[in-house]
Amino acid sequence: MPILYNFTKMLRQPFTIYHHFLLLNLLSSVVSVTTANNEVAALYSWLHTSPSFSSSFSNWNPSDANPCSWSRIIYSRKNFVTEINIQSVALNIPFPSNLSSFPSLKKLIISDANLTGSISPDIRYCNGLTVVDVSSNSLVGNTPYSIGQLRNLEGLILYSNQLTGQIPKELGNCINLKDLRLQANKLSGNLPVELGKMSKLETFHVRGNVDIEGKNPDELGECRNSKALGLGDTKISGSLPASLGKLSKLQTLSVYNTNPSGEIPLDIVNCSKIGNCKNLKVLDLSSNSFSGSIPRSFGNLSYLQELILSNNNISGSIPSIMSNASSLLRLLLDTNQISGKIPAELGLLTQLYVFSAKQNKLEGSIPSTLANCSNLRLDVILS
Ligand SMILES: *[C@@H]1O[C@H](CO)[C@@H](O)[C@H](O)[C@H]1NC(C)=O
Ligand SMILES: *[C@@H]1O[C@H](CO)[C@@H](O)[C@H](O)[C@H]1NC(C)=O
Ligand SMILES: *[C@@H]1O[C@H](CO)[C@@H](O)[C@H](O)[C@H]1NC(C)=O
Ligand SMILES: *[C@@H]1O[C@H](CO)[C@@H](O)[C@H](O)[C@H]1NC(C)=O
Ligand SMILES: *[C@@H]1O[C@H](CO)[C@@H](O)[C@H](O)[C@H]1NC(C)=O
Ligand SMILES: *[C@@H]1O[C@H](CO)[C@@H](O)[C@H](O)[C@H]1NC(C)=O
Ligand SMILES: *[C@@H]1O[C@H](CO)[C@@H](O)[C@H](O)[C@H]1NC(C)=O
Repeated sequence: MPILYNFTKMLRQPFTIYHHFLLLNLLSSVVSVTTANNEVAALYSWLHTSPSFSSSFSNWNPSDANPCSWSRIIYSRKNFVTEINIQSVALNIPFPSNLSSFPSLKKLIISDANLTGSISPDIRYCNGLTVVDVSSNSLVGNTPYSIGQLRNLEGLILYSNQLTGQIPKELGNCINLKDLRLQANKLSGNLPVELGKMSKLETFHVRGNVDIEGKNPDELGECRNSKALGLGDTKISGSLPASLGKLSKLQTLSVYNTNPSGEIPLDIVNCSKIGNCKNLKVLDLSSNSFSGSIPRSFGNLSYLQELILSNNNISGSIPSIMSNASSLLRLLLDTNQISGKIPAELGLLTQLYVFSAKQNKLEGSIPSTLANCSNLRLDVILS
């Protein structure tokens, strides 16, 4: 301790040196050493009150000149903290309040750590951040709009907290964002149309934020690199925008239980453009109030493994062209108004292992061709 204090005090003294080169040399060492000491002081002052400090951070010695040997800290050759990576330790302390002390921070990962309090708007000072993962904590309050200033951000992982308020529209400025996971919080309001500016976005999850509402924004179709879109268990309403058909890389589209009141009538025919998302593997539109008949275009989804349309108001018959979706493993159509016969062509889906169609108006008999689906578990009641 005393060494550290004397040293920082010395550095704070105004000094006057006339020799040009000597001044330059001194300045460069002053900059790196003071910063390192700030980082030691800031890390220690933030974490030392944690009940896990003595057990999990025993090598965090506040008299060290820098934190290069500290556990869970990555320190660059240029003498700055570049990564804080603390996972599955019960910290039970608030989010760090002193982020301006870490000018070179690239990754801030504090997850499953019972971090309390709110995300500090000071996070904007760490403008080199590429990943912020504070998932599975006890964070409350808003997502600060200042995160929009982090232009290098590629991952913002905030799931499983108690965050409230809207998704800040400023996030649209994080044009390098690929991974935005906000699920299982208490966020509310509309999805900002600015999401459409994130052309690199691959994963976007907001499921389980039951107060997120408003229409499915057309702008989601601008995120052309989308691979996973999870909007389930929200109050997002209205049909899926046709623009989603532009998402040729989409693999998972999960929009279950989003229109619980059923006030806005949804016609599943309006989802026919999804048939253009050639790489789709999972399509879950269950527990909404879709009516209309299953779009024939779904038969074009040759990588589709799961089609989950359970618990809607879908009518018409099962299109025989569904047999062209030859990767199907699970086809769940139960609790709808589907009528007619089960098409014999479904027997071509030899990998199918769950076919559920109970609680519909299907008639006739189970086609013998289904015997070719050797692992099939059938859950069908015919009238
Ligand atoms: C921030 O860190 C500095 C040392 O870098 C320390 O003096 C100050 O008390 C800290 N402030 C807070 C609010 O923790
Ligand atoms: C999380 O930390 C807070 C504050 O220290 C504490 O009151 C709470 O009991 C902790 N929660 C859990 C699940 O450990
Ligand atoms: C849904 O499709 C019907 C025709 O099938 C069309 O009249 C209606 O405008 C569409 N609704 C939306 C929201 O696209
Ligand atoms: C399936 O795709 C083909 C070509 O990719 C297209 O011509 C056809 O219209 C599609 N079928 C449906 C029902 O959308
Ligand atoms: C179900 O769809 C039918 C038309 O197929 C419509 O008449 C009925 O109102 C719908 N029921 C609900 C609960 O939406
Ligand atoms: C179904 O798939 C077969 C084989 O890939 C193809 O020849 C046929 O045109 C497809 N049918 C439709 C209606 O897309
Ligand atoms: C099962 O598939 C084989 C060829 O894959 C076909 O010859 C046979 O007719 C099919 N059986 C039924 C019952 O469809």
